[in-house]
Amino acid sequence: MKIQIDNLRFTYPTGLEVLRGISLSIEAGEQVAIVGQNGAGKTTLVRHFNGLLQPASGSVMIGDWDTKKTSVAKLASRVGYVFQNPDEQLFSKDVATEIRFGPRNLGYSKEKIDELVTRALALTELSDKTETNPYDLSPTWRKMVALASVIAMDTPIVIFDEPTTGQDAVNVARIAHVIAELHREGKTVITITHDIDFCAENFERVIALSKGQILLDGPAREVLGQEEILAQTYVDPPQLTRLGKRLGLKETVRNQDEFLSAMRK
Ligand SMILES: Nc1ncnc2c1ncn2[C@@H]1O[C@H](COP(=O)(O)OP(=O)(O)OP(=O)(O)O)[C@@H](O)[C@H]1O
Ligand SMILES: [Mg+2]
Repeated sequence: MKIQIDNLRFTYPTGLEVLRGISLSIEAGEQVAIVGQNGAGKTTLVRHFNGLLQPASGSVMIGDWDTKKTSVAKLASRVGYVFQNPDEQLFSKDVATEIRFGPRNLGYSKEKIDELVTRALALTELSDKTETNPYDLSPTWRKMVALASVIAMDTPIVIFDEPTTGQDAVNVARIAHVIAELHREGKTVITITHDIDFCAENFERVIALSKGQILLDGPAREVLGQEEILAQTYVDPPQLTRLGKRLGLKETVRNQDEFLSAMRK
């Protein structure tokens, strides 16, 4: 399912213009990372994808649906959004109810709901916590519940807003696995992240936002190699990318494997 954004502008009621002419398209099945400094407008941008926010001007198309003419409830069948703060998202008394809510709301059959919930629980390693109140879980696991409740909706587009913030290495690896699995299933995965190493390891395309505009958009290798331009949005390239540059490697390397193979040349 294609996402097509044309000249999107958005101003909060406070008068702050946060999106200043964003045009971009994301093809079905792409895995995209969005980076940029605090306040760049990343969350504001993705909240337009599921209709939580409406453009002041310009348009956001999700497949053939214009978000201005489509209800949030309807858009929920195409776009899943995992909130930056899980506490804004979770409301059920136990994990199982929380995860069933989305697919039930989309009107799937009981068998289909069971299947989707079981898969989401397994993918997020929550199968042994179904009866726990999400608020009795650590923030790390609450974040996984938020992920699971969106994955269970089986939408063609899934958005993660800062999934790795505050997570330990084990959970970051779990989240990377979830993203890889969704990608394997052909879903479009859009992830906002401050963790540039996570971005380099897991995404083919990177969009850098700065002050409500797109600064860079392209293959991760090219975007992450643009050290001076990225600095405008306070994003440092991954450590290995910077080290590779200092060592005079010809190619931009993104991760250990690429670094080692470039060193061997
Ligand atoms: N509901 C709101 N009302 C008014 N201003 C807002 C609101 N939400 C966000 N803003 C402002 O809009 C700007 C962009 O915010 P946004 O949350 O989209 O940025 P972000 O790139 O996601 O930042 P972060 O990395 O901190 O999550 C910021 O200056 C923020 O203070
Ligand atoms: Mg944000």
